[in-house]
Amino acid sequence: MPNTINWGIIGPGRIAHKFAQDLLLVKDARLYGVASRDEEKARSFAAQYGAEKSYGSYEALFRDPAIDVVYIATPHPFHYPSTMLALEHGKAVLCEKPFGMNAGEVERMIAEARKRHLFLMEAFWTRFIPGTEKLLELLKSGVIGELQFVTADFGFFGDPDPNKRVLNKALGGGSLLDVGIYPVYLSLLLFGVPVNISAMASFTETGVDGVCSMLFNHAEGQKAILHSSVIADTPTEAMIYGTEGSIKMHTRFHHPQRITITKNDGTQETFDIPYTGNGYFHEIEEVVNCLQNGLTESEKMPHSMSLDLIATLDRVRREIGLAYLEDEKK
Ligand SMILES: NC(=O)c1ccc[n+]([C@@H]2O[C@H](COP(=O)([O-])OP(=O)(O)OC[C@H]3O[C@@H](n4cnc5c(N)ncnc54)[C@H](OP(=O)(O)O)[C@@H]3O)[C@@H](O)[C@H]2O)c1
Repeated sequence: MPNTINWGIIGPGRIAHKFAQDLLLVKDARLYGVASRDEEKARSFAAQYGAEKSYGSYEALFRDPAIDVVYIATPHPFHYPSTMLALEHGKAVLCEKPFGMNAGEVERMIAEARKRHLFLMEAFWTRFIPGTEKLLELLKSGVIGELQFVTADFGFFGDPDPNKRVLNKALGGGSLLDVGIYPVYLSLLLFGVPVNISAMASFTETGVDGVCSMLFNHAEGQKAILHSSVIADTPTEAMIYGTEGSIKMHTRFHHPQRITITKNDGTQETFDIPYTGNGYFHEIEEVVNCLQNGLTESEKMPHSMSLDLIATLDRVRREIGLAYLEDEKK
């Protein structure tokens, strides 16, 4: 790989704008091209962020030999087909969460990347946020003793338009895949894959989970109590409890900038841990480092974690009775 990594972005929507702003801050990263289904939109996005090229189709971007890595920022159901096509064109890929609609899709994406010796990573920015690194360091130091349980929620009042991504079933709508994935990830990071899962959901008129409540049980008895919502705002905080105290990850806990430890004797310590840009800077830096070092996966967000994550989401969906069209193609 060259020292300066040429990035391409497909699906220049809401998240792509925030990502592009951070891409401009990363050393050795250059936004080279942008593709939209609408050529004019691609042109205007490219002009806004100083990209050299714009394309009226995603495939045209994949075909450009100057592009080293593609960031896939389309709605969930298009992650799998776009990732596969990008890999077939020899591109490294950073793909938004959820990586695929189900474990079958993610398994095929990973197999394709491995077959072609190409870099592939889920854009799970939480893992690279300095606040998450601090959390892992604190847990390793044993400051709250042995971990016992975690509570975490992520809820927001999403766009009520049934045709928009958040509620539209054909676009992978629903709270679990959109934001429930973050509390689920936190529990996997702390306790690994749960042994038992109980979950209940309330469904919207569009047939997706407006609210999803989950209870995970782990091999050593640790519990995770998790919630997600796209029909009401909730605090979006996480509390981690151990035998010697607790850790609060302040809102929004999935990109924490403040962490408070409370010991059993009531003493408290708060850490303020800022991140760079919109927070996407750190995952972009990770991809650049991996590519410069010839790696095909990130140690911090390895394929195995993405597989565990999507398999756990599949199990929750079976519990609540939520299936998408993509599940029929398994
Ligand atoms: N990491 C994070 O913090 C974060 C935050 C928000 C979202 N996300 C993830 O990023 C992905 C995109 O979310 P978003 O909120 O940015 O979505 P969005 O703005 O609704 O859509 C993104 C782009 O996808 C493209 N697209 C392709 N096929 C489409 C279709 N059939 N219908 C609608 N759009 C289509 C459109 O671009 P063109 O038409 O221009 O090609 C659109 O601008 C989701 O999977 C979501 O989970 C991640």
